[in-house]
Parts: sequence; structure tokens; C-alpha cells
Amino acid sequence: MKPSRRDLLAAPLLAVPALSACDRFASAAPAQGPEALPLKDILPCPFGATGMTWQLDQADWIAQTLKHCSQLTPEWEQKMERTLGPGFTYDFEPSDRVVGFARDNGLRVHGHTVIWYSQGAEVFDDATLPRDRFAAEYDRYISTFVGRYKGQMAGWDVVNEPVAEDGEGLRDCHWSRALGMDGYMVRAFEQAKAADPDAVLFLNEYNLENIPKKGATFLKLVERLLKLGAPIGGIGTQSHLDIEIPAGQITTFMRDAASLGLPIHVSELDFPMQREGRMPDLRSVADKRAQQVARVGELAEAFMALPERQRYAFTTWGLRDIDSWLVREGKSSDSPLLLDAEGRANPAYQAVVAAVG
Ligand code: XIL
Repeated sequence: MKPSRRDLLAAPLLAVPALSACDRFASAAPAQGPEALPLKDILPCPFGATGMTWQLDQADWIAQTLKHCSQLTPEWEQKMERTLGPGFTYDFEPSDRVVGFARDNGLRVHGHTVIWYSQGAEVFDDATLPRDRFAAEYDRYISTFVGRYKGQMAGWDVVNEPVAEDGEGLRDCHWSRALGMDGYMVRAFEQAKAADPDAVLFLNEYNLENIPKKGATFLKLVERLLKLGAPIGGIGTQSHLDIEIPAGQITTFMRDAASLGLPIHVSELDFPMQREGRMPDLRSVADKRAQQVARVGELAEAFMALPERQRYAFTTWGLRDIDSWLVREGKSSDSPLLLDAEGRANPAYQAVVAAVG
């Protein structure tokens, strides 16, 4: 495909000062970065990324994953849209393949996700299922699925994204309508604990740094569920970062989260320079890149400042830019991850390394 004007302007060969005035029209992809040393050796905690079955026979993905990662999260294969069929039938084969790849290659596995507001309603239909059948199938699914991998998982996202988009309360969903708002979450954690007592059980959520109200609601929810007896063992902050948030907001959330004393998982980190629904940004790429690197560095510093027992893992949602759901789904073309397509260091990689100090 003929390189566009943006690509030409961004090409390293052409990135001479005279062109910097056109920087605004340059491609958002940074000039090729330096060799990236293995992140699993640099970070003082497990470094994770995602994996999917179609990546398991890609030599370059395997090489980069085994070079950098000490943990793997199945990106899709453990979600109900893949595991649960009509009449409460199960298909865990794709999940087995990703877990098996990780186990065979010495990677920890973080399970994602057991109960999620956005999936399962076609089968768990709260409008038609009798409550006792709904509850019995809920318990059976969790105990069967989590129990299948007993002793093999470092942890699970037992409940994903329970808080309302704006942080004003919790999401109403088929789970809450059938089993109660706190009830479905307490029940899920209890079932998961019984199925795999050694796995660290997480409540996982996004926009906790980006929207302080949502972060506060989430932490209050964790405290309330713990008081109700839910065996929550960890906090998952997805960290799909909005790089435009004020400096310090990330640090404040991480400090507040740490005060609960639980292990924390940066579970789905990415940091696109443009976000859906935003007006076109006319700042230079260099300005946006500086903002991106500053926010990623702030998150890494806040996480690395945690006591070791609270640093569960630092996971990016995809390993290389080309592995990002945002790039796959056309929502980003501007290096939303730490490594470029060739596995070389993006500017944000340097910020993480600097944060480790
Ligand atoms: C995303 C996957 O990466 C995409 O491939 C899929 O199309 C949609 O789901 N928060 C989550 C993840 O907890 O499960 C989502 O993963 C991204 C947002």
C-alpha cells in the first residue's frame, strides 16, 4: 500500500528538524525504538499480557510473549460468549488451550472472567428462568469452570465491571436482578473460593483512575463485599488509561486502593493517544506522546511503590501494538502498548523502566 503523507512525514529517514513543524500531520507511530529488554526481568513483579488461541501458532507472538511475560490472561476464551451455550452447555476447550500453552511454557495464568454484566444473559435469562434454577445453574457454572483449573491459576477476575459507567452506583444486570446487587457478587466469590481455595480472587474494573467517582465507588464496594463475607483476595484496576487526566489522579487512586491492604493487579493496561468520541486533537504528536509517557510513568511509579505483597502483577492488554484490541478494532493507531509491532521499545516502555528505577 502506498505510504500516506503522514507515514512519509513520520518515517525516521525524514524526521529532520525542518519537518518537525509538520509534526502535527505526522503518523502517531513513534520512530522505531531501541531493543526492549525482557520486561519480566526488569519488573519486580509478574509482567503479564493477553493471549488468544489464534496467537498460539504465531511464532513471533510466541517468541515475544516468552521473552517478556511471566503471566498470561486469556483475552476472550474464558468469557461466557465462548464458554456457555444454549441449555447451560459448556465449551471450555479454547480456554484449555490457552491455559495449556501457559502451563507448558512456565507462565502463570490469570483467569478472565467468570461473571461479567455484559455476557451470559441469553442463557441466564432472569426474565424467564425460575430463581432457584437460575441460582443452581449460576453455582454450577462457577464451580465447574473455576474447579476445572483448580491449582493451575494464579488468580481469577471473578466479577468484572460491576460499577456504573459514571461511578454513580452499580450496574443493574441479569445477575443483580436474579440474585441481588451485592448478592450475585458475594455468591460468585464464595463459589469460586470453594472451587479453588488457592487462587487469588479479584474484583476487576475500568476507569478507576480516569473517573475518581468511579474509583471511590469501587473501593467502597470492595469494603462492603468484604464485610458481607465475600472472599475477595485482590483488586483489579484495568488501567485503560485516559492520558488526558490530570497528573496525580492515578497516584491518588493507587494510594486509596492500597489502603485496603489487598494485592493489586494492573490488569489491562493500554494508553491510546486518541479516545473514542473525542474531538480531533490538533496538538502535535510530540505533545501527545509526552502526555502518554507521563501518565504511563505515573501509573508504573504508583504501582512499583506498593509493598511487594500488594504487587500481584502488571499486565498490558496485548503485548505489542499489533496485539491490542484497540488496534484490531480500529480504535487506535498510535502505539497504545509498551512494544511496537517488532517488539521494540515504545516511548512508554522507557517510562515503565524508569519507574522501576
Ligand atoms: C475486550 C477484548 O480485548 C476484545 O477483543 C473484545 O472484542 C471485547 O472485550 N475490559 C475487559 C476485557 O474486561 O474483557 C475487554 O476485552 C476490554 C475491556
